[in-house]
Amino acid sequence: MKPFDAKPLIRQTNPDVLIETHVAPQSRSDRVAFAFVKLLRFFADRFFNKRYGHRAVVLETVAAVPGMVGGLWQHLNALRSMRDDEGWIRTLLDEAENERMHLMTFIEIAKPNAFERFLVIAAQLIFYNFYFFLYLLAPRTAHRVVAYFEEEAVFSYTQYLAEVDAGRLENVPAPQIAIDYWQLPQDARLRDVIIAVRADEAEHRDVNHYFVNEIDRRADAGREPKGKQGLDDVKGDLERV
Ligand SMILES: [Fe+2]
Ligand SMILES: [Fe+2]
Repeated sequence: MKPFDAKPLIRQTNPDVLIETHVAPQSRSDRVAFAFVKLLRFFADRFFNKRYGHRAVVLETVAAVPGMVGGLWQHLNALRSMRDDEGWIRTLLDEAENERMHLMTFIEIAKPNAFERFLVIAAQLIFYNFYFFLYLLAPRTAHRVVAYFEEEAVFSYTQYLAEVDAGRLENVPAPQIAIDYWQLPQDARLRDVIIAVRADEAEHRDVNHYFVNEIDRRADAGREPKGKQGLDDVKGDLERV
């Protein structure tokens, strides 16, 4: 008996989420975010090619970082400003948990080799620190970067699905962890898992684009300076102490 209530993680897949959609970069920081994501995509495509299972394992370890970092900063922000977070913290932490479940699912399908395990450690070291400071200095850009990552993730899972549908990758039975998490039928296959994961990525994409719009709206309403309310808040709070 565990001394805490370890509720099983479950998730309802949103069947209505739009799959193919793109928000065109509007500002200079959007274009920087977009170019950065496209550059990383270029390297990921070269490295993984059509090894979609391996690609999923490695990239999901990276994808699970921003939600936790964003959730942490929003949490600290809410404590400092003594203001309601309007649901941001839980949404961001939920995103991190969801991405971790993607990882736990794909680890059952593809086992990373020694080099990929090294890559995961190196990528986490670099990306966690990078994103931590990016969110502090420019939370708007940070959310835009994630939204563009998610656009690419949707595209990659569509490609993965096409490989399975064409019979080039075996449509293996879904891992039990995925069946339990997304509450899939017991005879669910890899195809069903990819569809569920892709819907999650599309949801993250929409949420992060929405957060960018919300930061802009707050800035326009004079509530927060655009683009760097994180750092300005910290400086302002320190001056007040
Ligand atoms: Fe994911
Ligand atoms: Fe994602």
